[in-house]
Parts: sequence; C-alpha cells; structure tokens
Amino acid sequence: MSWHVIETGRQLEKTVDFGNKFLIGNGYLGYRGTMEEYGKEELVACNLAGIYDQRGSAWREPINAPNGFYTQLFIDNQAMDLRTSEVITHSQELDMQRAVHQRKTVFAEKVGEVTIESERFASSTDNHLLHMRYSFSLEKTARVRLVTGIDGDIWDINGPHLFDYDEYSEGQTIAVSAVSGELKHKIAVADTISRTFEAEEQLLETEKGVFRQLDFTAQAGVVYQLTKSVAIYTSQDTKEPLDEAVKASFSANQFGYEVLKQAHEAEWQNRWSLSDVEIEGDDEAQLALRYSIYQLLLTAPYHGQTTSIPARGLSGQTYKGAIFWDTEMFMLPFFLYTAPETAKNLIDYRIKTLNGARDKAKEYGFRGAFYAWESQESGQDACSDYNVTDVFTNRPMRTYFRDKQIHISAAVACGIWQTYLMTEDLNLLINGGAEVILECARFYNSYAYYRPEKERFELIDVIGPDEYHERVYNNAYTNKMAAYTIDIAIQALERLEADPTKREELIRKLDYQRDMEQLQTLKEGLYVPKPNEQTGLIEQFDGYFDLEDTTVETVRSRLLDPKEYWGGAYGVAADTQILKQADVVLLLTLFKDEYSKEVKKRNWQYYEPRTEHGSSLSPCIYALLACDIGDPEWAYPYFMKTASVDLTGASKQFAGTIYIGGTHPAANGGAWMAAVLGFAGLEIKDGEISVNPKLPEKWQKMSFSIQLKQEIYRIEVTKEGGSVWKQ
Ligand code: BGC
Repeated sequence: MSWHVIETGRQLEKTVDFGNKFLIGNGYLGYRGTMEEYGKEELVACNLAGIYDQRGSAWREPINAPNGFYTQLFIDNQAMDLRTSEVITHSQELDMQRAVHQRKTVFAEKVGEVTIESERFASSTDNHLLHMRYSFSLEKTARVRLVTGIDGDIWDINGPHLFDYDEYSEGQTIAVSAVSGELKHKIAVADTISRTFEAEEQLLETEKGVFRQLDFTAQAGVVYQLTKSVAIYTSQDTKEPLDEAVKASFSANQFGYEVLKQAHEAEWQNRWSLSDVEIEGDDEAQLALRYSIYQLLLTAPYHGQTTSIPARGLSGQTYKGAIFWDTEMFMLPFFLYTAPETAKNLIDYRIKTLNGARDKAKEYGFRGAFYAWESQESGQDACSDYNVTDVFTNRPMRTYFRDKQIHISAAVACGIWQTYLMTEDLNLLINGGAEVILECARFYNSYAYYRPEKERFELIDVIGPDEYHERVYNNAYTNKMAAYTIDIAIQALERLEADPTKREELIRKLDYQRDMEQLQTLKEGLYVPKPNEQTGLIEQFDGYFDLEDTTVETVRSRLLDPKEYWGGAYGVAADTQILKQADVVLLLTLFKDEYSKEVKKRNWQYYEPRTEHGSSLSPCIYALLACDIGDPEWAYPYFMKTASVDLTGASKQFAGTIYIGGTHPAANGGAWMAAVLGFAGLEIKDGEISVNPKLPEKWQKMSFSIQLKQEIYRIEVTKEGGSVWKQ
C-alpha cells in the first residue's frame, strides 16, 4: 500500500489540488495530475524547467508546453467528461515505485457503462518524452469519436507566452511548434500514436492545436486502445526543436509503449534502491516520506542539466518557477547523501549564474555576489519590489525580500561547501565553486557595517528567514551564516593550496589579495548574537524581545481577511514576536555542535509557540532540532506535517491575493532530513558515518542507503541502536 497514492470519487472541488498531488515528471518537465479531457480552466500544464518568458510588465514565469496528452472520447456525440458526465466510479492513482499515473472512470451513458482507463509516465530514460496508454470499452455497441492530439491553448498565470503556432502532420505523427514572446524561444511538441483499431481519421487544426478525430463503431465489450508518445524540445536544447520532437516521438512510438515503460521503471527502481527510506511500524509516515522522496526524484535535474529545483517544483508557474534558498538549505542534503552527481548539477546552476549575482550586488552598490532571492535562468532576480498584493486595496505592497534577504548568498556558499566536503572533489572548488564562495564572502564584507562605539561589524537592515519582520538589525541567523561564509572562504583558499597555480589564477582574476586580509578582520569582528547567559535565549534580531509577546492565535484573530499578509509594514505579525518560520531554531539546527543541549531546548520551547509555520520550510526544522534535543515525540507531529504537505494539500494557497499553491520540494527535502538526519541521527564527520537513533514511539525500525564517495552504505536503526555496512 505505501507505494500508492489513491483518490476515489469525482471530487471536482479538488481538481487543482490533485493536479499537484498526482504530478509526474523527470526534471525537464512536470505534467500535472489532471484528466485527459481537461483544458486550461482545470490548470492542465506541462511545465518546463529552466525556460522562462515575460509578457509585458507581468512577472516572468516558466513556459508551459502545449498539452500533448489531450484526449476526449465521445459516444453518440456525447463527451465523456469527468466534469459533466454522469459517473459511476472514478479513481486516480500514482504508483510511486514505478512513477506511473493511472486513471479509471466508469461513466453511466444511455448506451450503458463506458469505461475509460489511462496510464501515463514522464520518461526517466529520455526526459524529452511523455508516454500514455489510453483505452476504453462500452457495454453496448455504439458510434464513437475519439479526439486526441496537442492542445496549445494552455494555462498560464501571466501569459499567453506562445505565439506563431505552426501545425504539422505526417502519418501517425502530428506536431505543434510555437515561439515565446520575449526571448523568441521555440517550443515544439510532437505526438505519435499507435492504435489497436480501425477508424475514419480526420485531422483537425485549430488556431493553437492539432488533433486527430477518429470515428468508428465500437463493439460492446471490446477494449480499444491507443498509445501516445509525446516529445518536447525547445530551442534551448537544439536549433531545430520541431525536427527533433518529430523524430523523437516517431522513434519512441516504434519502440513501443511496453518496452519504454520497462526501461523507465528500471531507472526508477535504480533511483529508489539508493533513496528509499523504509519505516517499520508506521504506514502513514512511510507513505508520506516516500511521497516526499518521489517528489524530489521527479523534479531533480538527473540528466546533467544545469537547472535547479524551483520552490514549487515543476507543478506549475507559481513563484515564477524561481529557485530560492530552498534548494541549498532544504533539498540539497537529500541529493548529497543519495545522488551526489545530481547534487553537483544543482550546485552547477549557482556557478553558472554567478554573474547574475554579481550584477545584483552592483545594483545595490555592493561588491561580490548577492544571489537572487528568486533566481531564474541566468541568475536574474525575478523577485519584485512589490511581491505581495494587499487584499484590501488590491495594490502592490512594498516588500523587501529582494533587497534585504541577504542570507541567500550564504545558503549558496554553504551548499557548495557541503557538496565539496561530502565529495572531497577539489575540482568542484577549482571549476567555479571557490569563486562563488569568495564572491559571497566579499559581498558580506562589503555589506557589513562597522560600529566604532561597539568595536564590531554588524549586518543591519536585513530580513532573516522570518519574513514577517522586515529591515531588522543583526538577525542572528543571517549574521551567523555570514560569519560561516567568511570562514569557508578562508578554508576554501586553504584547500586550494593543493593546486597553487589555480589558486593564484583565481586570486588574480578576482583581484582578491586585499579581500583576503579583510576577511580575517571580519572573521574576528563580525557580531554574532549569543545565547543570553541567564535565559539561554538567542534574540532573533535586535529588539525582538521588546515586541509584543502574544500568541499565534491572537494574531490570527486580528486578521480582517483570511488572505491578508501577516508581514510588511502593517501586517498583524510585524510588531509582535510571532514569526513566520524557523529562524533561531534553524540556526541552532545547522550549528548544533556549537550550542549546548540546554540552549537548544530553551530556544525550541521559546520560539515554538511563537511560530506560525506560515512557510512549508518551517516544521521540518522544528522536527530536526527536537530530535537533536532527544525528544522525538516533539518532533513527530512536525515531521508528519512536513512529509504530508503535498498529500493533504494543507498549505498556504495565497500571499495577499497571489496564488502560491503547488508542490513543496523544500518540505519534501525537509521530511527526508527530519527522518534520516533527525530520527535516525545520521552524521558524517571526517568521512566517518554514525547514527544516533531517536525513533518515535511507533517506529520499530528504519533502513536506508547512502552514497559516500562512490561507495554505497546500507544503514539500519532501531530504538536500541544502529548498524552501517558497505554494500
Ligand atoms: C518563505 C521563504 C521561501 C519561499 C519559497 C516563502 O514563503 O518564507 O523562506 O524561500 O517561500 O518557498
């Protein structure tokens, strides 16, 4: 059971939710879990990774490709449509082990029952391909019409993005190509079918799509079947995307659905063998954790592309398809421990976009690299100065995420450093990694402000992870992460001593000699707030403890509109101690060896009732620190909340009036961290693997694998202890 996500019944009110929940994907594309007969109103989308377009002055967002799976069955001119037809039974199912989506609907028609079944997958062996098998049968003989093809009239939040549609057809292959408005990217989708039945066939061309119309008389009790091989290419992949798509779709169809499905499943089996985490004693947790891992596996750039994972994965255009600190701080550990090559692809994205970060630093008058808060393909910041719309006035609100959330550069540097430490691959530092780290350190050096009266450097006017408090001074998390960045820059320079020529080249290229001295000064002088000697508490930022001390419920009760934004100048949380998400608790989790258990416990207990968990990034961090403190029962509800966010769909859907729904890969990565680094207590220090289990009461055993420097280790833990062995 715990490999299958199943929903039964029509549940039309959950169409958007299920689109997310039943997502399939392969790092290049994500295809939402909608029905074959649906259109843009139901948010059908084939979302493409790393290719964006802007329309007018609206937000830039990723491009959705024309929908190659569109299929509609008519019986005696009556559409078989889950939205409008009479339905006897309906089910939708995701088999996570094989990464295959299935649907079965039985309609009640004048001619008796009509059954439609479909199965689809996003190929894991060729990420340009999507495959589907669609079949139907009738209780009584009737005249049917099947329309199947490519629907180019697609869902966009800020579109339309595609123009100049061209349609193509030859034999069983049809295709659509279009050009994006801003950067003139070409997008081509081709579809080749095989069918088990004879029919009169006509080609239907619409303004934006091309379809085959198949008419025939279907005999009672016979199963009629069709397979579709859909290929997608863009001008970012090749000069001639249409030719490539047509070729790929045609030859995939020649191979046949079953053969390709077997290869796809074998690849997923391989992925699962390295990444699955088995839990004995808790089926609900098992399902939720597997589902989280499934989501990570389907969105990652497994095929060596230098794209990263957007905050809403490949579930749509929400959050502008942008890459946030979510990737490095919440998802990267999963890949580092289970698929280090994919972790390197994620890191490469930051190396590739360094110039974007340099430009942003310059824009604000700083040196070094200030990474985009919401990063798109070349590192440009998609975050606007007005990122939330006020629910009362419908006017854009000035937010400071873009200009003040400076902890993003530390997340990038830290991600690269962790990847280097895990892989011990000096080439990672030589080929751009060290350059990024040095530039991030330089940025903090130029941002830091010297207070002569206090004889220390401070980071003033920032936003920490808790976005509800804007423009604060000395956010403890930010200062600590900046100090860490300085530290790893110094260490990176030391490690480069193994290749003195490259080291010299880099210092010369960056003109870094003086910075090296300044880094030492900053290392010694940067203020990092410490736990108070009496209370053990770390103040989230200067003056935080003077704010109104109240409860999350009280603050919530002050809302005049449920979609109202809690932060910003007038937000209900802004003048209180209520925080959006883990902030000090995140700092203590990341640097857990530097703080006593007592300090961690006191801060957890202080901040926990004051945290709204308004971001899906928050609960997993509370779970991790609770495990570290030795209290898995505190951790458990937070773990479950994180791991099931995309199963229950219980997450914030709006920031002001802006839709922010979709999948939550940071929470998915957080669920893995809470389970493996938290409950199992896995640690790798100086190449030594150890476990220190603190399993929740229900859990009898956990088993999983990790990869460390090309070796695979199997790990098993129980409440009593654990064992690690090489495979
Ligand atoms: C959180 C950020 C996060 C972003 C994308 C926001 O709600 O506050 O920390 O990076 O969502 O997930």
